[in-house]
Amino acid sequence: MLPVLVVHGGAGRIPKEREGLSSEGVRSATRAGYTVLRGGGSAMDAVVEVVTVLENNPAFNAGCGSVLNAKGEVEMDAIVMDGRTLASGAVSAVRNVANPVQLARLVMDKTSHLCLTAGGAGRFARSMGVPEVPGESLITDYARMCWKKNLVLDTNHVEFQMGKMGTVGAVAVDAEGNTACATSTGGMVNKMEGRVGDTACIGCGGYADNKVGAVSCTGHGEAIMKVTLARLILFHIEQGRSVEEASDLALASMKERPHGLGGVVTVDSQGRWAARFSSQQMSWAAAQGNTLHYGLYAGESFTQSLDKTV
Ligand code: GLY
Repeated sequence: MLPVLVVHGGAGRIPKEREGLSSEGVRSATRAGYTVLRGGGSAMDAVVEVVTVLENNPAFNAGCGSVLNAKGEVEMDAIVMDGRTLASGAVSAVRNVANPVQLARLVMDKTSHLCLTAGGAGRFARSMGVPEVPGESLITDYARMCWKKNLVLDTNHVEFQMGKMGTVGAVAVDAEGNTACATSTGGMVNKMEGRVGDTACIGCGGYADNKVGAVSCTGHGEAIMKVTLARLILFHIEQGRSVEEASDLALASMKERPHGLGGVVTVDSQGRWAARFSSQQMSWAAAQGNTLHYGLYAGESFTQSLDKTV
């Protein structure tokens, strides 16, 4: 079948001066991931490639560029899931690794567990030979500025919280019809030390099942967890809804009851895809065949040829 890859760079309000960085970052990560799929790579290889590229891009709230917790430190969450076998791996509140998504994949591939947290995740990383990086190397000036701003609870508080919701994620269906998802985040700005959000929780920040499809989520973690957003979308698809309807219904439930905003990228097992959000913006891109689709605001969708270099 024709492979498909759909990527997000986080839901929220993206400051005007950062819109270009966000949209270009998501598009070039999508091109990198689609090259993997076109070369016969698996859905899992493609989503991990995309999320690694986005973690290495300081414009996003994942890896380098992560938001800071209340103590001014970086603690990150990530998950991967393979829809072929329902295998999954996650890390939560992990520090000093450049690519939490790759560590999540090692949890999936090398342990019998689904999630390792904090110090245990760090020790596992060292045992696997994953290089330890200084916490400071993951901190950008922008993340430090948002952290300082949020220490003072003024009228900018909500604005800055929303401005740094840039969790990253991807879903894919490969040529063999296998699905996968990957999601990675620094979480919510000024979160309590040890706080774990939706991203590391299976069925919340992501889910993949070849029989239905795959979802990666972004937005207010506590609200996403209350509705188990990723699994809820797949439930609606199982009930016969389209990928758009299923995504919109689940996002509406999240807005109605826990009053949370967010966004999702969704694929079904036939390779139909959607990028939907209830927040003001979400930078997203989708690659299928020779076309790259992308957008930032609701109702916006542009296209580019995948053969054209960015
Ligand atoms: N959705 C990312 C977080 O709340 O941690």
